[in-house]
Amino acid sequence: MTDAVVTEVVQPADTSRRKFLVGATTALGTVGTVGIATPFVASWNPSAKAKAAGAPVKVDISKILPGEQIRAEWRGKPVFILRRTPEMLEGLKAINGEVADPNSEQPQQPAYAANEARSINPEIAVLVGICTHLGCSPQFRPEVGAADLGDDWQGGYFCPCHGSKFDLAGRVYKAVPAPTNLLVPPHSYESDNVLIIGVDQENA
Ligand code: FES
Repeated sequence: MTDAVVTEVVQPADTSRRKFLVGATTALGTVGTVGIATPFVASWNPSAKAKAAGAPVKVDISKILPGEQIRAEWRGKPVFILRRTPEMLEGLKAINGEVADPNSEQPQQPAYAANEARSINPEIAVLVGICTHLGCSPQFRPEVGAADLGDDWQGGYFCPCHGSKFDLAGRVYKAVPAPTNLLVPPHSYESDNVLIIGVDQENA
């Protein structure tokens, strides 16, 4: 059993950040824990802490504004949850020729997310926020045409460690150090507004 905790919200307009204390209850934060049936095994009884570390987490996504990203935590990893605007989704199509794996052929996502937007619901991106080069955490850079990222920048993620770039579906650009797209974690929806990270869609 564990709690999903929203640790950060990045707003689209000014990219100001609202920090949340780990464990705090927030409007966007934890809504609870996914109950999972655990078979009784007499000879192996992991601690509650160990069980919590691997448990799925629920996140209330109802208050994420279009273009806004929140950051949750699952298995000790940051998970970016972004509500993409129609313009952001159009921007993905515009750069199909610039990303290394436009059709998600590498196994960096569950089968149900091997699609154009790399997600179950095209509007909602769910990405493990760890660079596939050496593990830094990429920055959310939604500004189209950002001066330091090029006129054709459609918004995405920039890794400050060695300069890898990813689009708003976590697809890695060509000719950067990172070899593959950002990971899409197993995820599913309990309802339109409740995302479960750590449980596959078919098992939800
Ligand atoms: S860790 Fe991200 S580019 Fe090296």
